[in-house]
Amino acid sequence: MFLAAFLPIMLMQQAPADDIDWDKEFGVEEVERDPVTGELPVEPYVQANANAGATPFAGDTMAARFGGQNGIRQIANRFVDLNFSDPRIRTIFAAHDEVRFRRTIFEQFCYILNAGCNYSGRDMESSHSGLGTRKADLNALVENLQQAMREEGVPFAAQNRFLAKLAPMSADVIDR
Ligand code: HEM
Repeated sequence: MFLAAFLPIMLMQQAPADDIDWDKEFGVEEVERDPVTGELPVEPYVQANANAGATPFAGDTMAARFGGQNGIRQIANRFVDLNFSDPRIRTIFAAHDEVRFRRTIFEQFCYILNAGCNYSGRDMESSHSGLGTRKADLNALVENLQQAMREEGVPFAAQNRFLAKLAPMSADVIDR
């Protein structure tokens, strides 16, 4: 009897779900992309080339083998596309900022290949901590890099020299 009389009134007083600001209700902060770079903000950190995780090659041979900055840009972009669409690892990348990754990975490659860039991204350990990456994920990522380099015509020996520079970073980018 009580319910029959009051239920219609109770229902009427409840705001329709569409009117509720769920982000506000749950304290979710809205993050906005930088209007110029299109990137999402990250926690402050000290920028330094040392964050790239490897020292650059001497001379300009490696940069030339990779086709200079244009070639490196192509490789970095292809590498990012492959990683974000690879069914083996795309779920690890899905929640992360592709725009920033595209820029920082290009800078890192360009810096290490001594093609005239500085690296402004975070260090490998802090940017990969908590991602839950395993050895198999690293293998998949390396295969994608090999494919991107191969498609750009980087000679096999130069591919391997570059991979050897990245190899010591494994401990920092793998979680378990
Ligand atoms: C030697 C191997 C690797 C290198 C050189 C590398 C390089 C980088 C660089 C330069 C960044 C950008 C850091 C920044 O935003 O400041 C980054 C971020 C990231 N990497 Fe790697 N990475 C490696 C391995 C991996 C692996 C194996 C995975 C997973 C399959 C992975 C997933 C990610 C993700 C999801 C981010 C974005 C993190 C964020 O936005 O907070 N990386 N990586």
